[in-house]
Amino acid sequence: MSNFEIEAIDIRKTYGHLVANDGVTFRVGRGEVHALMGENGAGKSTLMSILYGIHQPDSGSVRLRGQATKLTTPSVAIANGIGMVHQHFKLFEPLTVWENVVFGSEPRKGGIIDARKAIEVVSSLGEQYGLNVDPRARVSQLPVGVRQRVEILKALYRGAQTLILDEPTAVLGPQERDGLFDVLRELRLDGRTIILVTHKINEVLDISERITVMRNGKVSGEMVTSAATADEIVSAMTGRSVRTVSRTKQAFGEVVLKVKGITVPSHGTKPLVDRVSFELRAGEIIGIAGVAGNGQTELIEAITGLRHDASGSIELAGADITGKPVRERREAGLTYIPEDRAATGTAIAASAQDNLLMGFHTRRDFSRHGLINSKAALHHAKALIARFGVKIASEETPVGTLSGGNLQKIVVAREIAKESLLLVAEQPTRGVDVGAIEYIHSRLLEESDRGRAILLVSSELSELFALSDRILVMYEGKAVAQIDRQEADEAILGSLMAGKVAA
Ligand SMILES: Nc1ncnc2c1ncn2[C@@H]1O[C@H](COP(=O)(O)OP(=O)(O)OP(=O)(O)O)[C@@H](O)[C@H]1O
Ligand SMILES: [Mg+2]
Repeated sequence: MSNFEIEAIDIRKTYGHLVANDGVTFRVGRGEVHALMGENGAGKSTLMSILYGIHQPDSGSVRLRGQATKLTTPSVAIANGIGMVHQHFKLFEPLTVWENVVFGSEPRKGGIIDARKAIEVVSSLGEQYGLNVDPRARVSQLPVGVRQRVEILKALYRGAQTLILDEPTAVLGPQERDGLFDVLRELRLDGRTIILVTHKINEVLDISERITVMRNGKVSGEMVTSAATADEIVSAMTGRSVRTVSRTKQAFGEVVLKVKGITVPSHGTKPLVDRVSFELRAGEIIGIAGVAGNGQTELIEAITGLRHDASGSIELAGADITGKPVRERREAGLTYIPEDRAATGTAIAASAQDNLLMGFHTRRDFSRHGLINSKAALHHAKALIARFGVKIASEETPVGTLSGGNLQKIVVAREIAKESLLLVAEQPTRGVDVGAIEYIHSRLLEESDRGRAILLVSSELSELFALSDRILVMYEGKAVAQIDRQEADEAILGSLMAGKVAA
């Protein structure tokens, strides 16, 4: 019998003229954690969707434990012991955890669903692998890290021998990520095989046994992790080395954003945001740190005008914008890179050109008497696509077909390109590759040098350290600390984020 659990051999997959997988051979050993890396649009998710039976390759074959197997649908993949956790979870929110886990293959007694049995099975699976979830909890009430555990339980319940995780840590904070990795180690001890797609080199070095790197639809590197270096991985991904940027400058201008006593009520006893106040000056970058679910999202919604139940006051460049609609805030000088690029950041069915024009269409250089100057719009789109390295067939391509990271680049490019006093950037590099992170970071620093005030929310501590002048830590809705970057380190931040008062 083969030592490989999965072999994808000479896989080719095209979308129209675009070659997403170009003769890819990918082999995963039984019981290993295998990392799959590569730039945005390299073809990683395409390959994974072929292994999970979502897409069929144009040519090439798949072998499971040495046997040629046709994975024609996800059900066939599941029947063959392959499970997948997608980046965008596919859970039924109104249902409970156990209902989601057993959905479609419920244990039955006398023809009806045996809820007690199902709850028992879900709890014992959870205990076995350290996936602590209350089987009776409603999914809609669970934070993202716990929802991910539900997805993993679902795959395990269906007998997954191999688990594919496509960028599982993109939505997790550091603590949640450590929790996930503990679970993955348990699964490996149990003899399961794990394929981990990620852009984060530290994670790969931390947990994987072997690494495959893709570039432009082809395999550009295969390494044993213990013998690999970060530089080698980066150059296999990008063909060059990548620097990390860092902040140097210090002089700030006038106060641009003044937030006073922002409070967002909740249905429970504790408010979601609890009397948060701070001032942000021209040329200054404030980073907001916190474990997901501690009020960061709601605070940003209150500032950008997406939420109407907040109290307190907000001033933008001296003008009171409290209670003003989003459009007026934008006119007063606010631009916004939202966390959820698919839902609020882009119009999925529209072209890249139209998406890049959103918010520019009333400007003089782009329109006259209500007519869009299509030449200027095209020029604008072409320039941003080139500068941000968006991998896309043409400006006409609907953004819904873009890879995760390339869609993110569209939103970031558009909002950075807008002139504004204040840029609110929520997870600006989530899901983008190392080369693009470097570029986005240097652009953000450049913008702040030009006097733009930047409010940055990030679950990546390294990003907060690289960019922020000051870091505001949120815990249970409160701004529990505001510290200068020079005085902050990971240990201090970590304990503040966990609700422990720093020494
Ligand atoms: N359904 C589709 N229709 C057209 N093009 C597609 C489709 N799915 C993927 N593509 C294209 O195939 C290429 C590879 O995309 P894929 O999603 O596999 O990249 P990826 O390596 O997962 O990137 P990322 O790191 O950004 O997630 C991209 O250029 C993408 O635009
Ligand atoms: Mg992808």
